[in-house]
Amino acid sequence: MGCRVKKKLIAGNWKMNGSLAANDALVKALVAGMAASTCHVALCVPSVYLAQCQALMAGTAIDLGAQDLSQHEAGAFTGEISGAMLKEFGVRYCIVGHSERRQYHGETDALVAAKTQRALASGITPIVCVGETLAEREAGKTEEVVKRQLAAVIHANGHCISEIVVAYEPVWAIGTGKTATTEQAQQVHAVLRAQLKAATNQADRIHILYGGSMNAANAAQLLAQPDIDGGLVGGASLKAPDFLSIIASAP
Ligand code: PGA
Repeated sequence: MGCRVKKKLIAGNWKMNGSLAANDALVKALVAGMAASTCHVALCVPSVYLAQCQALMAGTAIDLGAQDLSQHEAGAFTGEISGAMLKEFGVRYCIVGHSERRQYHGETDALVAAKTQRALASGITPIVCVGETLAEREAGKTEEVVKRQLAAVIHANGHCISEIVVAYEPVWAIGTGKTATTEQAQQVHAVLRAQLKAATNQADRIHILYGGSMNAANAAQLLAQPDIDGGLVGGASLKAPDFLSIIASAP
């Protein structure tokens, strides 16, 4: 139990939201409001705003994150952004395999595994998302699905797996206001932890975040679960008071 005293990680996922003016106001409000916080805080912003957010967050306790990266190192891949480019802007975390990318951009388990490798090779911590759809949960396939998604990443990354962050995001809870119960979330987190333990003796170090309608009202209870090491927060990360109260509820 001794090594369980790791700080929580609360990561905001802005998705395709923001503007120069709105980002400026939001980051300044967060910086002003979180002076006493002790957990790790990151914001995963749209790539076009990385330079702006890098400047806004310089010297603050907030780490910069991106929402996706290419699996390729460089070259003729129009529209794509490389890990090395993200690194130049001080990016520390990058979301990989978010369900919206799996769903709308056809990202497969193999591609997610390759992107995870690319992030690690670029010195960026990948936040690897796994999660079942409502149909999969109702068919009793939750464990099978998340284990398959994580297995692909473990297989491709070997012992480097201890360097990743995992986010369990049940697809039916994302942006719906329907949060998984603490029991549902903890149960899946424990399954993921056991899977990571079979792959590395560093599994207790790995942050496993919960995501899916986490908000100011439910965060404390979720974050009190033994295998929930933080949150990946979408909608509520766009409102400074809500995000600050989630941060404040992270022990
Ligand atoms: P939500 O999104 O908090 O708006 O449900 C979470 C996510 O998709 O990362």
